[in-house]
Amino acid sequence: MKLDSKAIRYLTSEDFRVLAGVEAGSRNHEVVPTPLIVQLSGLRGGSGVHRAISNLAKINLIAKVKNAKYDGYRLTYGGLDYLALNAHQKSQAVYSVGNQVGVGKESDIIVVAHSSGEQRILKIHRLGRISFRTVKTNRDYLRHRSSASWMYMSRLAAMKEFAFMKALRENGFSVPEPIAQNRHTIVMSLIDAFPLRQISKVPNPQGLYSELMDIILELARFGLIHGDFNEFNLLIKEEVDENAKEKYTPETKLDDVADEDIRLVPVLIDFPQMVSIDHVNAEMYFDRDVNCVKRYFQRKFHFVSDVPGPTFAQARKKFLKNPGKRLDVEVEASGFSRKMARELEKYMQEVGVDGDNGSREDGEEDEESSEEEEEDDEESGSESGEPNNDKQPEQDDEDVGESSRRFEDLHVSGPSGQ
Ligand SMILES: Nc1ncnc2c1ncn2[C@@H]1O[C@H](COP(=O)(O)OP(=O)(O)OP(=O)(O)O)[C@@H](O)[C@H]1O
Ligand SMILES: [Mg+2]
Repeated sequence: MKLDSKAIRYLTSEDFRVLAGVEAGSRNHEVVPTPLIVQLSGLRGGSGVHRAISNLAKINLIAKVKNAKYDGYRLTYGGLDYLALNAHQKSQAVYSVGNQVGVGKESDIIVVAHSSGEQRILKIHRLGRISFRTVKTNRDYLRHRSSASWMYMSRLAAMKEFAFMKALRENGFSVPEPIAQNRHTIVMSLIDAFPLRQISKVPNPQGLYSELMDIILELARFGLIHGDFNEFNLLIKEEVDENAKEKYTPETKLDDVADEDIRLVPVLIDFPQMVSIDHVNAEMYFDRDVNCVKRYFQRKFHFVSDVPGPTFAQARKKFLKNPGKRLDVEVEASGFSRKMARELEKYMQEVGVDGDNGSREDGEEDEESSEEEEEDDEESGSESGEPNNDKQPEQDDEDVGESSRRFEDLHVSGPSGQ
């Protein structure tokens, strides 16, 4: 399912109230009975509410569930997207929605803009959707789970990613600026750079390689292992080297800067799989991160380091001798609890989420994997199973605008070739 935000500008505040009502009802009901929707929407019953319900159903933000004992609806992923988008718009994190720049395995990446025109990235987590398509056993397994649980897990992934991005950013790591999180989405600064995967030539592979290994070690010193440290999750920014700055004016275009005066600055992204250095499998994740970089540099740049390692033992030693702030602990304290972390990790294992490492080791070259038509989450909708009600963060009325300001310049398209 892709974000199709075209209809959002036509939704009224009443529609949003009803949508939020369906969401609230979903916490305790797999199928939310119509009278409950009316009640939760906080609107007086009457034709207005029913018009809103049928309007929302028509554009697939809620879905009527037929074979239930009673008449009811459930929220679709599209409905959840709209609620999140509306909240971001209300808090002014997002003003307009632009192009989709990526369809990841576990997320959609969309360029959005602030009212100042500043471009940002909206990442919509869609945890487990690949497994729905490809893995039969998981499919059978997931059939017995509610779509609400899928939504809840995507929300946990967004919470986790936001918490880690914030902690890393505050401690000097080169990561995007986290701007907002709502439901299963986050808004962050846009990094004007390509992933390492798309960079065919690096003037000084040795330098970049050491820098990447230093990042892995520095993460460990702060108690963390990225868990998916690879050429897709490292964006490489080009900047004029500090030492060469006097040769150029601030207006000089990068194209006009000599190769030897350009410094490559890695920016790390994608944090839902981050683990603590105390994790039972910490060493495996650490080695995997290190080996991923090694293998990639060898294959792509024919660079093999003379220095062996770094090993997990070395990283731990550094960590014990000169520890940074425990960011794994800080994140726990920030609201993404250990219990949530465990729930998310278990779910990710169950649905076979293994980051980019897990599925792209075959060394295929730069072509984009062709996206199959996605199966909707619809099919899992009428099953039993409740979301973890007690742990869902508040998504209350404040999300729903008095009058939803319209998105300007609304234009969403799929990635090229779709
Ligand atoms: N802040 C950002 N600025 C610029 N580009 C970004 C940003 N965040 C993500 N991207 C782009 O989107 C791609 C996917 O993002 P990310 O790795 O966070 O999602 P993912 O779910 O892991 O997707 P995939 O499975 O494709 O790796 C990145 O490789 C990058 O090209
Ligand atoms: Mg990624």
